[in-house]
Amino acid sequence: MTIPQNGDSGIVDAKISVRSVTKTFSLKSEEFVALDRVSLDIADNEFITVVGPSGCGKSTLMNILAGLETCTSGEAIVDGRAVSGPGPDRGVIFQQYALFPWLTVRQNVEFGLKTARVPAAERRKRAQHFIQMVGLEQFADALPKMLSGGMKQRCAIARAYAVDPSILLMDEPFGALDALTRVKLQEQLLDTWSQEKRTVMFITHDVDEAVFLANRVIVMAARPGRIFDIIDVDLPYPRTEDVRLSPKFGELRNRVWHSVYHQNSGTAAGTQSSTTA
Ligand SMILES: Nc1ncnc2c1ncn2[C@@H]1O[C@H](COP(=O)(O)OP(=O)(O)OP(=O)(O)O)[C@@H](O)[C@H]1O
Ligand SMILES: [Mg+2]
Repeated sequence: MTIPQNGDSGIVDAKISVRSVTKTFSLKSEEFVALDRVSLDIADNEFITVVGPSGCGKSTLMNILAGLETCTSGEAIVDGRAVSGPGPDRGVIFQQYALFPWLTVRQNVEFGLKTARVPAAERRKRAQHFIQMVGLEQFADALPKMLSGGMKQRCAIARAYAVDPSILLMDEPFGALDALTRVKLQEQLLDTWSQEKRTVMFITHDVDEAVFLANRVIVMAARPGRIFDIIDVDLPYPRTEDVRLSPKFGELRNRVWHSVYHQNSGTAAGTQSSTTA
């Protein structure tokens, strides 16, 4: 049996279980280790955020879970089954707005349902529900070019939700947005998540965002890509502005910040020695 080297939370019946996953890429006849024996359990309906320096393997890990990349060794398990490719159980939201520009908001949201051969009336109903949930009902018949960046991302979230995946994998979805839009979308995403619980993995470079959203923050380190620290965010939901301004939030943000930006200088607080060996 593989003993997880890092990130083992001891979660029983994990929704997602990453078991000693290593990913190497061949670069000019050299092997580059993008992920080195990464282990992580994520509970059903848990919201985890992933932070870490550029190149530490965040997207690679997400792509492995999405079934878009394979691992070199180890296993990625979702609902007890090894991931062998993409599936409707996992909705993926990329940093770039991956909307079809020639389809309206409604048609974009209905797209996955159409592919899944959901009957038209049901499709319409489900799309309408999620369009309303993200506050785009007035733009349901608009094309993406008529939307702001934040509205496009809300449409992408509605589209991912509409196919009813039990897992949402989000790779820096709010990275390109201004601070105010970003904060609004964070709040909206949490509203959505509290109404319709999903297991979420959300990658970000923004430490405040990581703490604000998560049940747990996973801090990764580079060369080789690995889990460096895991920080429990014991702040209450709903995460209001008061929560964001609380001293506890400040402490957690500092802790994550320290872990990300001082990871070459020693052992992360609260981390087993094996994680930094
Ligand atoms: N298809 C590929 N071929 C070769 N190397 C790759 C490939 N994909 C990723 N890598 C390498 O693996 C490492 C991890 O990449 P990854 O995109 O997962 O990093 P990241 O943590 O998401 O970074 P960022 O924060 O910049 O998005 C990088 O050094 C990258 O160059
Ligand atoms: Mg990335």
